[in-house]
Amino acid sequence: MKVYRYFYDSRFFMKLSGPFKQILTLNNLPLKGKLNDESLEVISNGGILTENGKIIQTGDFTLLKQKFPDSEIDWVEGEQIALPAFVDAHTHICFGGNRANDFAMRNAGKTYLEIAESGGGIWSSVQHTRQASEDDLVDGILKRINNLISQGITTIEIKSGYGLNAEEELKMLRAIKKAQTKTKVTLVPTCLSAHLKPRDFEGSSEDYLNYILDEILPKVKAENLASRVDIFIEKSAFQPEESKSFLLKAKELGFQITVHADQFTAGSSRIAVEVGAKSADHLEATIDEDIEFLANSNTVAIALPGASLGLGEPFTPARKILDKGGILAIATDWNPGSAPMGNLVTQASILATYQKLTTAEVLSAMTFRSAYALDLQDRGILAKGKKADFITYETDNFQNILYHQGSLMPKNIYINGEKIG
Ligand code: NIG
Ligand code: FE
Repeated sequence: MKVYRYFYDSRFFMKLSGPFKQILTLNNLPLKGKLNDESLEVISNGGILTENGKIIQTGDFTLLKQKFPDSEIDWVEGEQIALPAFVDAHTHICFGGNRANDFAMRNAGKTYLEIAESGGGIWSSVQHTRQASEDDLVDGILKRINNLISQGITTIEIKSGYGLNAEEELKMLRAIKKAQTKTKVTLVPTCLSAHLKPRDFEGSSEDYLNYILDEILPKVKAENLASRVDIFIEKSAFQPEESKSFLLKAKELGFQITVHADQFTAGSSRIAVEVGAKSADHLEATIDEDIEFLANSNTVAIALPGASLGLGEPFTPARKILDKGGILAIATDWNPGSAPMGNLVTQASILATYQKLTTAEVLSAMTFRSAYALDLQDRGILAKGKKADFITYETDNFQNILYHQGSLMPKNIYINGEKIG
C-alpha cells in the first residue's frame, strides 16, 4: 500500500529504485585534487530512496525495502548500475546555422584568418543566429537538449554570445529562458556578450565592453535572464587588462564570473583567479606557473576536450591541474564552430586516455565538481538531501562507462526521482 503523505500529490511518495548491481554514489570525495579509484563508494545490490525530488537514503536494497515497507518500488530489470546524472557546465547550444564548411576548410589546412575571411568563424554564427527567430532558437536548444539528456546529462549551462548587440543577446537569453519552461533539465544561462567585438560595432573593444556593462547587463538583470557573465580573453578577442576591469564591474553588478581562458595563448586563467571566477575554461595553453596559481584557488578548471578535438589543438593539462590540487571539471563546449560533437562521455574518456586520468577523476569532473562550477552544490552526488538526478546503465560494472568511450548509452534518466527516459 502506498502511504499518502501530505494529500495526494505523487511527488510526496517515498520511492525506492533498485535493486542495482552497483550504485556509484561519488559521495565523500574531496572537491579538489587527484583521486584514486579505491576512494569511490560502490554499493552492491543497492537501492535509492527518494521523496519529493530528493534523495532520502542510498544503501542495500533489501534493507531499505524492509526499513521502508510502504514505499513505492521502482523495480529495476536485469543488471543495471546507477550513478549521479552528468552536468555539462559549458555549452553554446543556442545558435543558428551550421559551420561544417569551417570544419572542412580547417582540415584542408586553412588558417583561422582564411576561414574568417571567407565568411566562416564566430561572425558567421552571429549572422545566422541574428536571422533566427526566438522560437527557432528555442527549437534548436530543445533538440540539442534531447541529445544531451540521452547521454545522461540533466544540468546544462548555455551561453549567449552569437547575438553581440543588446537586442540579439537578449533574444538568445530569452530563448534559453523559454526553453527552460519546456524541459525538466536544469538550464544555467550565461551572458557571453563579450565573445567578440562585433564587426558592426563602431568603437574600440573597450567601448564595446562598456556597452555591455551599460546596455546589456542591466537588462539581463532586470529580466532575470542570467546570473553569470563570461568573456573570451584572447589575442583575437578581448585583451587581459580591459577584460579584468570588465569582469570586476560585472561582479559589482552582482554577476558570477566565468572566463574562456588560455585557449591559444597563456595569461588569462590568472585573471580568472584574480577576479574570483567560478571557473576558467579551456586552458589548452596554460603554462605551469599559472596551473599552480589556478590549482591553489577555488576557481574550477574546466577542460573542453571537444574543442581540442574540433580544432586539432592540445588537450588541457588536466593531469597537472589535478596533481597540483586543482578542481577539474570536463564539459562539451558544444558549439557550431570549435566543438560540434557535443558528446560528453566520448570526449571525457578520450581526455582520460591522453591525460592519464582515473575513472574517479573523470566521473567527478562530470558530476559534483562540474556542479560546483555552476554553484549548484545540491547535485552531482547520491547522498541524503541531494537532488535525485541519476542515471542507469545496463551493465554490471561502472568501469564500462568510460571503457566504451561513449557508445554505451544510459538506460534510464531520472530527474527529481522521476524517470524521464
Ligand atoms: O569555446 N573560444 C571561443 N568560443 C567558442 C567557440 C565559438 C565558435 O567558434 O563559434 C569556444 O571554443
Ligand atoms: Fe566555449
